[in-house]
Amino acid sequence: MRIFKDEEKLSPEYVPQELPHRENELNMLKTYFSSIILGSPSISTRVIITGSVGTGKSVLAKLFCQKAVSEAVRKGVELKPLYVNCRISKTTFSLLRKLIEQLKARLPERGLSNEELFHKFLDYLEYKGFYSIIVLDEVEVLLREEGSEPFYLFSRVGEERLKTPRISTIFIFRNPEMLDALDASTRSSLLGNVIHLREYDYNQLYDILKYRASLAFRPEVVMDESLHLIADIASERGDARYALDILWRAGKYAEAENSTQVMPEHVRKATASVYPTIRREHLEFLEQHSKLILLALAKALEAEKSAYVTSSTLNDYYRLVCEEYDVDPKSYTSFWEALQRLDDLGIIKIRVVSEGSRGRKSYISLPGVPTSILKKELEPLLPGKQARF
Ligand SMILES: Nc1ncnc2c1ncn2[C@@H]1O[C@H](COP(=O)(O)OP(=O)(O)OP(=O)(O)O)[C@@H](O)[C@H]1O
Ligand SMILES: [Mg+2]
Repeated sequence: MRIFKDEEKLSPEYVPQELPHRENELNMLKTYFSSIILGSPSISTRVIITGSVGTGKSVLAKLFCQKAVSEAVRKGVELKPLYVNCRISKTTFSLLRKLIEQLKARLPERGLSNEELFHKFLDYLEYKGFYSIIVLDEVEVLLREEGSEPFYLFSRVGEERLKTPRISTIFIFRNPEMLDALDASTRSSLLGNVIHLREYDYNQLYDILKYRASLAFRPEVVMDESLHLIADIASERGDARYALDILWRAGKYAEAENSTQVMPEHVRKATASVYPTIRREHLEFLEQHSKLILLALAKALEAEKSAYVTSSTLNDYYRLVCEEYDVDPKSYTSFWEALQRLDDLGIIKIRVVSEGSRGRKSYISLPGVPTSILKKELEPLLPGKQARF
């Protein structure tokens, strides 16, 4: 008995045509970008979307871009939406390359500074008569790697050109405090249009689940009680991704048992196997040393039987893990930087405690996932271990 109609409709990449409880935010975006959609912008618009994990930041920006393009087409405006995830393209240069690649523009990339390349990109848009809404998602990592430069490019350089502004930008941050890392003038040119997405409450999650279940499952398959239970479990975090992930897995359990319905028991089983803070795609895109650090953390927490390890203890374990995999460990500074990136991604938590005259100590923990699961997820992503004789 098939219970799914189209399980893809529950995947995190799928962009649904409706976003229950984000209608206002969608309208706000429409208002901010209305002059671009009409092809007569006098200034370039910049909007910041913030909100914690799974509050719908990425999907809101993507759906808005789709709607903006179809509106622009009706008005005869050539609007190109460009989307870059800065967790993957984490330098200014790779970000610019990604933009150019999506435009299918052939531009010389060698021997140009980032700023020159950015001007070429703008020249190309002008030459083609294109307008573009650029979505820079998960900006934290880029900000940590590059500081203000990319923000300076997107906020100031465009303004210095006297022609019609061709690009407008949506920046997506999880944590708005990251903006404090920018220099004052760049920051002030960015602030203004900030849309903050609050965490979803129980009722909102229920509506979202009901809607997505109607797309993904055959009618009447998912018991209403199951949706209520998932909404209840996920409302502690207000995270729609977590809620949809449980729904999908509950469906898989039901399917495996040849059940005709997705029942609360399937939800309970699913919940036991879904960990909201680790996302498989996050782990895959980590650089090798970050994976090794996480593996070291899992081992250290297990061996020390404790909730925290200090950064220096973790560094010792990291060196052992490197030896096991036959790679050279990175310097302590690089190790520390990698830890901070893992903290930005929400995979680990760093707590810095001042210890009076003895200085400060950093305690590292793994808040949302058992060490055994993390190890199981990481091991296939790492190269083969050094054979032991
Ligand atoms: N209002 C909504 N209606 C329907 N689906 C939603 C809604 N909000 C979020 N979702 C879905 O929840 C999942 C998570 O949303 P999204 O990826 O946009 O979160 P995010 O805020 O970008 O999270 P992160 O900070 O982890 O990147 C996606 O599958 C998305 O389609
Ligand atoms: Mg996102």
